[in-house]
Amino acid sequence: MVFLTGAGISAESGIPTFRGAEGYWQIGSTNYQPEDLATRRAFAAMPDELWAWYLYRRSVCHAAAPNAAHLALVALERTLAERFLLVTQNVDGLHLRAGNSLARTYQSHGNIDYSRCEAEHPRVRELPQGLALDWPKARKLSPAELDALRCHEHGRLTRPHVLWFDESYDEPLFRYESSMDAARRAAMLVVVGTSGATTLPNHLVSVAAQRGLPLVCIGPDESPFTRLTESLAHGLVLRGTATEWMPKVARALGVRDGS
Ligand code: OAD
Repeated sequence: MVFLTGAGISAESGIPTFRGAEGYWQIGSTNYQPEDLATRRAFAAMPDELWAWYLYRRSVCHAAAPNAAHLALVALERTLAERFLLVTQNVDGLHLRAGNSLARTYQSHGNIDYSRCEAEHPRVRELPQGLALDWPKARKLSPAELDALRCHEHGRLTRPHVLWFDESYDEPLFRYESSMDAARRAAMLVVVGTSGATTLPNHLVSVAAQRGLPLVCIGPDESPFTRLTESLAHGLVLRGTATEWMPKVARALGVRDGS
């Protein structure tokens, strides 16, 4: 069973989605649109400001707690064990904080709590605690903060461990091939809280549709995924929020109270 999650699953934890009314990609900043910021190009031009934006978003994630939908996925992993796989586009780390295992959680867009050096074999490191900026008021990092973001081995500034718009998925960092393999072997795909705007989710859902898998799509709004799901014989759209539906889906898939 493969579960694919997007920003919508964390919306009820207080983390803005990207394309919703209050989303990161809608509000932007006074100087830049976030879709211009979330690029390798922008990082090369203004690493300071990029880091300030990611440290701010990281503080929003830290202030949030996992919700009932995250917990339902933890119970599903306990119940389904090796038959469970979670592919998430979320960088907020809430699935892991809720209790899903790293082995069964593919973070296909990275994790905002980590940084990596752009060296050939990048080592992914957890960011130091206490680095938080009041973005966009504070846009500059102090020399001490910049130092804390340097790679210990190579001395250069690290980058956020996330996937940017002008970059490609890969296996070592983002488990791309493993995610696709899982979709090719899956018995069912459950999609929660994603608008279907990025490549990997589209590939996973296409594979599921081509294979005639049961496909469940949870979310309050219409999207390319809800439209596709509705057109399939084995498709089921559950219109509503993640916390309304995920505990019910978990029970339907065998989770017992208290697991
Ligand atoms: P979007 O903001 O594009 O879509 C969020 C989806 O969640 C929408 O379909 C909403 O209807 C739905 N939603 C909102 N509230 C919900 C709730 N309470 N319960 C369930 N669903 C809810 O976010 P993503 O699809 O995750 O990538 O965006 C995918 C990627 O695009 C992100 O990971 C990010 C962005 O560019 C990168 O930064 C690389």
